[in-house]
Amino acid sequence: MSENRQHWLNEEAKLDELVQKTLWPGGQKAIDRLAKQGKKPVRELIDRLIDPGTQFFELSRIAGFGLDYPGVGDVPCAGVVTGLGKIYGNWTMIIANDPRVKAGTYFPITLKKHIRAQAIAEENGLNCVYIADSGGAFLPMQAEVFPDDGHFGSMFYNMARMSAKGLRQITMSTGGNTAGGAYIVFMACESVMIDKMSYSFLGGPPLVKMATGEVISAEELGGAKVHTHISGGADHFCQNQDEAVDRVREILSLTPFQKIHLHRYEERPSSYPIDKLYDILPTTGSQVIDAHAIIETIADDGVFNEYKKHYAPGRGDNLVTGKIRLKGYPAGIIASNKIGVIFEEAARKAAEWIVRCSYEKIPLIFLQGSPGYMVGSDAEHSGIGKYGADMVRAVSCAQVPRIQLVIGQDNGAANYGMCGRAYKPKFLFHTMRSRTSVMSGKSAGGVLLSIEDRKREAGGKPMTDEERNEFYEKMVQKYDGEAHPFFCGARLLSDRVLKFMEIRDWLAMAIEVSHLRPVGEPSFGNFRF
Ligand code: COA
Repeated sequence: MSENRQHWLNEEAKLDELVQKTLWPGGQKAIDRLAKQGKKPVRELIDRLIDPGTQFFELSRIAGFGLDYPGVGDVPCAGVVTGLGKIYGNWTMIIANDPRVKAGTYFPITLKKHIRAQAIAEENGLNCVYIADSGGAFLPMQAEVFPDDGHFGSMFYNMARMSAKGLRQITMSTGGNTAGGAYIVFMACESVMIDKMSYSFLGGPPLVKMATGEVISAEELGGAKVHTHISGGADHFCQNQDEAVDRVREILSLTPFQKIHLHRYEERPSSYPIDKLYDILPTTGSQVIDAHAIIETIADDGVFNEYKKHYAPGRGDNLVTGKIRLKGYPAGIIASNKIGVIFEEAARKAAEWIVRCSYEKIPLIFLQGSPGYMVGSDAEHSGIGKYGADMVRAVSCAQVPRIQLVIGQDNGAANYGMCGRAYKPKFLFHTMRSRTSVMSGKSAGGVLLSIEDRKREAGGKPMTDEERNEFYEKMVQKYDGEAHPFFCGARLLSDRVLKFMEIRDWLAMAIEVSHLRPVGEPSFGNFRF
């Protein structure tokens, strides 16, 4: 086994270990507790909900780890499972509370994940299924989850707007939905409740007793029977979870069939299996990569129709551009190559390519492994600033779906030009080789040390060599830690950390889902040229 392969298998084993924690929060005890309530673990419900034999593309599984919520610790999977699956052949967004994680309550990261899933659904025209079982806002953090835009109320605002756009919002309540949480049932286009399992009320029994003195059970106050037989706040009455899942499927079997607005050619395998990435990707993001070899593992038949292949050797080829087919779908590629530093020729080539793909209405895949744009007087004088800005402008304005996959360094303005989060790619994936931060640990350590040095000298207390080393190492560790895909994934800076083996399937899914809406006309602002 090659050294690279051994390294990446070890790295991905660490990812597996983390993911296991999200699959089984609370261990067997939590499963037994659910079973006593007649409930299945949430992913079992999802498996039954999606078409038999199809894949559930689960997003952001490592969200919620290592956050510093006081007195809370990890929030595995952010307490909510989100992802895409097909229901009667239609791509659907599924958003499901996991009651094993603090009763499915909403922490800031839970909201961020829920709202990101809704944004993907709204942008791409997907129906949503909510599997609702939540204690509502995590009350000790109410100030961080309740009042602001992007907080609790936004979930219902999004439901209302999506349903107005014809995107079905279906809620299957499998537990408590109290206070604000009740709106997930009442705002749905159709909601399904389960006898003696689902509850929905604006104030639970303890609050009702306090407010009015009325003593009433949860069942009588807002159980499935109340809302399906008396209040009319819910629409379908079921006896158990299996029946409820079948009912949701039935409801969605009657919605119009989705159309994909991109021609699909015959799907072909890549010329090298994607597995080859384990051998060809060096163990650190700062080492040289061969974009062509990477693309061969992704493209159908390994065919890469390269654009401006011979342009400006040594300066234009740190970034390669061209077209591939991926599982039959045509896609434009912009890929970091070699060391990945972007010179002005590469920036111009990329901007040109983005405009061309926009006129052709084919999606763009950014394979990002760049530490930044070239610095120094030569680069500045020959216009790296303006050509880099042109690339960033082209990325910002392109109407075609853009998808980012980070396979190495992801620093500085290269994060912008290669379509980082702020540039709203339809999907953003990391790998265990990704390192996303303003600059590398070593660069940050050096810059911050020079600032600290100046400060200490001005104060008349210059640092000793030992202090300087300690300071530098601390900064390197901080930056390297914050750039790691686990740190970023925990905060939802990626939609998923992909294993190399998964890359082709996920990119194909992302292309397909991104074309469920027609692509707009190209419109770019003022380039400098
Ligand atoms: N805020 C903070 N913590 C909450 C919470 C909330 N809204 N709702 C539940 N929790 C916590 C519990 O304290 C418990 O924590 P622990 O494991 O550290 O002891 C954990 O979540 C599990 O709750 P528990 O009550 O044991 O689960 P359950 O399955 O028996 O009941 C609910 C679930 C949701 C019906 C019940 O917890 C409940 O009624 N919660 C309050 C709901 C509410 O009034 N929300 C208003 C906010 S909008």
